[in-house]
Amino acid sequence: LDNGLARTPQMGWNDWNSFGCNVNENLVRQTADVMVSSGMAAAGYTYVNIDDCWSTKSRNAAGDLVPDPAKFPSGMKALADYVHSKGLKLGIYSSAGTTTCAGYPASLGYERRDAALWASWGIDYLKYDNCGDHQGKNGQQRYTAMRDALAATGRPILFSLCNWGQESVWTWGMPTGNSWRTTGDIQANWNSVMGILDQQVGLEAYSGPGGWNDPDMLEVGNGSLTATEARAHFSLWSLLNAPLIAGNDIRSMSAETRSILTNTEVIAVDQDWGGRQGTKISDNGNLEVWRKPMSNGSVAVVLLNRGSGTATVSTTASALGLGAAASYSVRDLWAHTTSSSSGTISASVPAHGAAMYVVSGGGLVTPSPTPTPTGTNAI
Ligand code: GLA
Repeated sequence: LDNGLARTPQMGWNDWNSFGCNVNENLVRQTADVMVSSGMAAAGYTYVNIDDCWSTKSRNAAGDLVPDPAKFPSGMKALADYVHSKGLKLGIYSSAGTTTCAGYPASLGYERRDAALWASWGIDYLKYDNCGDHQGKNGQQRYTAMRDALAATGRPILFSLCNWGQESVWTWGMPTGNSWRTTGDIQANWNSVMGILDQQVGLEAYSGPGGWNDPDMLEVGNGSLTATEARAHFSLWSLLNAPLIAGNDIRSMSAETRSILTNTEVIAVDQDWGGRQGTKISDNGNLEVWRKPMSNGSVAVVLLNRGSGTATVSTTASALGLGAAASYSVRDLWAHTTSSSSGTISASVPAHGAAMYVVSGGGLVTPSPTPTPTGTNAI
């Protein structure tokens, strides 16, 4: 969407993955505080986003949504002022239907009224879900109505579409929103993360500055994901130029979780636009190679091991689309070390793990090489 926002994938936090309906203003304020004190803000995280369940169960007599006074006793304007005072931005949530997914009033038919209210509070971001009755309208009609209502406020409000990949949203997402969910909801386990990853193959042609494929919010630090799995998840989402929306309780995160979320070398791949998001170039069933052209002529690569034991995952500079060179520089984005290679890019990768490199040398000769996958997760 050409509204000046999300020229690189948006970064921030959202309460849903860890807190569900248990959202309140103290959580939001404390999260804003920690976003700054933890170094996340310095690493690029900006949006503090409220998800479902923030309002009362019905509109007021005037027809406006009302923040639940038990959860947000100070009101949303005061909360936005606080978040802004930290140099951060505040996001809110509604649905392109009659109710939200948790059964609260939503915005279909109230687009102008709700957008104006959010703008008056100082809201900077809207996650717009797909629950409730659609009153016979298709997704493009319902999301376009909110796009236009947000524009009419005159306030820059990032517009995040959440229709779970329905109606091939990627084919109409770019003119409609700043990002669009491509799948159902992520869960904090490896199978969910891999299942979502598989659904990203083929969507790389649709994203770009102003509009991003969204494989859902991060589960780093949540549920049963190990640190190894979380590093793979974060590596892959960055290679996909995905919005990086942390979904953990950052107030109590471990040092290891924090170091994953604030790995600025990996984040730099997410925030770089070399003409196309990352894509899978090989797959033998358990071992996958993903690559992304970088704007400076290098290539980012993720070597992924989905199997149950340590394995060597390999590719070559040529397969990554680089031209011939006597040697290539290989930057390890997790070890933060640089080595050289005569052409083979290889790593011993633990089960459910990934290595991530930026390879340079030879120049990018095939910006979008034809994928030649084989195996069970083939394109
Ligand atoms: C849907 C969305 C989730 C979350 C919930 C809230 O399931 O996909 O991300 O917003 O609704 O109820």
